[in-house]
Amino acid sequence: MNLIEWSPKSHLSKEKLDFLLKHFLSVPYDVLDLGFVIEVGIYEGGTLLEMVRHRRTHNFIGYDTFVGLPSLTEQDRNTDEPHNLGDFSVSSDREHFMCDAMERMQLYFATQGAVSIFCREFPINVGDYPISFAHVDVDLYHSTSESLKYLARNMIKGGKVVVDDYGWQRTPGVEIAVDSVDSADFKVIDRSEWHQIVLEHR
Ligand SMILES: C[S@@+](CC[C@H](N)C(=O)[O-])C[C@H]1O[C@@H](n2cnc3c(N)ncnc32)[C@H](O)[C@@H]1O
Repeated sequence: MNLIEWSPKSHLSKEKLDFLLKHFLSVPYDVLDLGFVIEVGIYEGGTLLEMVRHRRTHNFIGYDTFVGLPSLTEQDRNTDEPHNLGDFSVSSDREHFMCDAMERMQLYFATQGAVSIFCREFPINVGDYPISFAHVDVDLYHSTSESLKYLARNMIKGGKVVVDDYGWQRTPGVEIAVDSVDSADFKVIDRSEWHQIVLEHR
């Protein structure tokens, strides 16, 4: 029985989740154990929870602003249906969310293994520490680009990044950010039919 009433939802389709988990599970333990597993953009926590359940022995960190998407840049606007500032806010009342839902999510995850949740815009003021696997699901150019710069500095060789919404017409900034990574840092190793791309750190 769960001690805490909180039911994290994943916003990935089953196909997307399976693709993500396939790549997560394929990272060998000798690579995985050298760093943390992170999800940038956890929203309601369900995708992170699926990852935790598949490799409970590991150390996970989830980041989200919890007040929704930060500002769009011009790279995000080249579409008929752009996202908007604040999309995916868990609550419009930040104080209420921080005091209630965030606490519940923290406590729920504490019952599931070694999981830390940080409420912040990644990677602002995030110290450098080793990462072995990352799921980047932040929808926007700036957030994707800054996340990938952080990961280029901090990923273990052989570590993988799955970026969501690559090539999706509603999120043009994601593709621009991924296509701008330095090929000396990452090589593309896979793509899914559902707008996911996988990079491996060289
Ligand atoms: C599509 S939702 C994530 C869905 C979640 N990964 C899932 O599978 O259910 C995108 C999230 O990214 C968050 N986000 C966007 N840019 C961010 C950043 N720079 N740092 C932290 N969170 C960010 C938003 O607050 C939003 O909750």
